[in-house]
Amino acid sequence: MDLRILVLYLTCVFFKNSASVDNRTFPETFKFGSATASYQVEGAWNEDGKGENIWDHVCHTNPDFIAEDDNGDVAADSYHKYKEDVALLKELGAHYYRFSISWARIVPKGIAGSPINQAGIDYYKRLIQELVDNGIEPMVTMYHWDLPQTLQDIGGWPNAELVAHFAYYARILFENFGDNVKLWLTFNEPKQTCLDGYGLAGMAPAYGSIGIADYRCTHTVIKAHARAYRLFEEEFKAEQQGKMGMVVDTAWFEPGSDSDQDKEAAERALQFTYGWFANAIVNGNYPQVMIDRIDARSKAQGYTISRLPEFTDDELEYIKGTHDFVALNIYGAVNVTWKEETDVNDVGYWSDLNVNEQGIDGPWGMRKAVNWLSKTYNNPEIIITENGLARPRGLDDDDRINYIREYLSSLLEAILDDGVHVTRYTAWSLIDTFEWRSGYTTTLGLYEVDFDNPDRPRTPKASAGYYANVIKTRCLLD
Ligand code: NOJ
Repeated sequence: MDLRILVLYLTCVFFKNSASVDNRTFPETFKFGSATASYQVEGAWNEDGKGENIWDHVCHTNPDFIAEDDNGDVAADSYHKYKEDVALLKELGAHYYRFSISWARIVPKGIAGSPINQAGIDYYKRLIQELVDNGIEPMVTMYHWDLPQTLQDIGGWPNAELVAHFAYYARILFENFGDNVKLWLTFNEPKQTCLDGYGLAGMAPAYGSIGIADYRCTHTVIKAHARAYRLFEEEFKAEQQGKMGMVVDTAWFEPGSDSDQDKEAAERALQFTYGWFANAIVNGNYPQVMIDRIDARSKAQGYTISRLPEFTDDELEYIKGTHDFVALNIYGAVNVTWKEETDVNDVGYWSDLNVNEQGIDGPWGMRKAVNWLSKTYNNPEIIITENGLARPRGLDDDDRINYIREYLSSLLEAILDDGVHVTRYTAWSLIDTFEWRSGYTTTLGLYEVDFDNPDRPRTPKASAGYYANVIKTRCLLD
C-alpha cells in the first residue's frame, strides 16, 4: 500500500461518518467490478460469421427507432479493442468484469442443432484469457437483449420453443468457457426484455401486446433460465465449481405514506417487478398477488383463462431453487401510492399492477432494496450487478461521483449495520456505450468513448479516478 492510499485508508477509519456519507470501510471480501454488454460495445455486427440479432434488425430496418438514427454497428468497437478495455479495468483495480456474450456470434441462426461459429468462440476465449492474465475475474451475462433474429422470426420469447434453443446455446458456453468463468448470469433485466420488447414495443423487437405477450415472454424466459441452471447443475457444476443467477432490475418503491394502503401498493409494485422473476426461481411460482389479480381481471375481461400463464406442477418443482445468488440492477427510487381500481376492461400490465408512481431522488433506496431482498428471499447472497448515472457527455462528471458515493454509502450501511449479505457492486458502465433507444446521446461510462473518432479512443472521466480510489481504499472519501 503506498503512502497516499494509507493516508486515505486511515482517514476513512478515523473520520468515519464525518461527512454526509458513511466512510467506514467495505469488508475485505467485498468485490468491486464494472460492466458492459455485447450489443452496446462490441460493434463488428457482421464480422467473422456473426448472425443478425434483433437490435441489428430493428436499427437497420427502422432507424427512427433510435435517437439520431444511430445503431450498434461499430459502437465502442470492443470486438477489436477488448485489450484496451481490460487495461482500463486493470487501471481501475476492478476485481471482476461483467460482460455479455452475443448469442448470434456463437450460434448465428440461434436454432438448436444449427452450426456453431468458431470465430465467435475464439473471440470470447481471447477476452476471457486477457482478463485472467490480468487477474480480473470474468462474470458472464448469457443474454443481454440481443436475440438472434432467426428466433424472433419464429415468434421470439413468447414462443416456448426458445427454451430448447437457449439450452443448446447455454451448453456451448459451459463447454467452452466454464474452465475460467465461475459466475454466470442467465438473463439481464428480463422485465425489459418482456415488458418493453413484447408489451410496450419500446425495445427490440418492438412488438406491442401489453398484458399478454409480455407475460408469455416471461414464462419462456423463466423456463429457459431454469433449464440452463439444471443443465449446469447436472453436468458441469461439480467439475467447474461455478455459480449462477438471474439479473433482475427494480427501483426501490417507497410507500407514499404510512397508510396500510400505500404500503400495500409499494409491496405490490416490488412483487410485480422483482418478484415477477425472483419469486419463481426462488420459490417456484409467480407472486400470489400477480396470480390473483391477473386471474380475476382476465376473467372479468371475458378471457376463459388468466392472461398470466400457469406453470404445471412439474415445472414448479423444476424452476424452484434455480439460483445461487440474487442479483439486482438498481438505478433509482419511486414514490408509490394506492390507486382506486381502474376500468376492468383495460388490458395491460400497468392496470394489472394499478398503483400511482412518481420517480424520486433516493440513493437511500439501495439500503432498503437489499434489505427487502434479504427478507423476502431468505437471506441469499446478493450481488449488485448494475448501478450508475446517465448524464450528458463530459469528463468532469462530479454528479456521477456523488451518485456512486451516495449509493455505495447506503449499501455500506446495509452491509455493516443491517447484516445484509451483499458481496459485490458493479458500476455500470466501464465505457460509454450504445444506450439502446437513446443511441449515443447519453453516457454512463467511467471512461469516455469518442464515437466521432473512427479509432474510438477511451479517456478516463473524473468518476473513473474516484471509483479507482474506492476500490483501493474500500471507503468512500473523494
Ligand atoms: C440496464 C441495462 O442492463 C443496460 O443495458 C443499460 O445500459 C442500463 N440499464 C442503463 O440504462
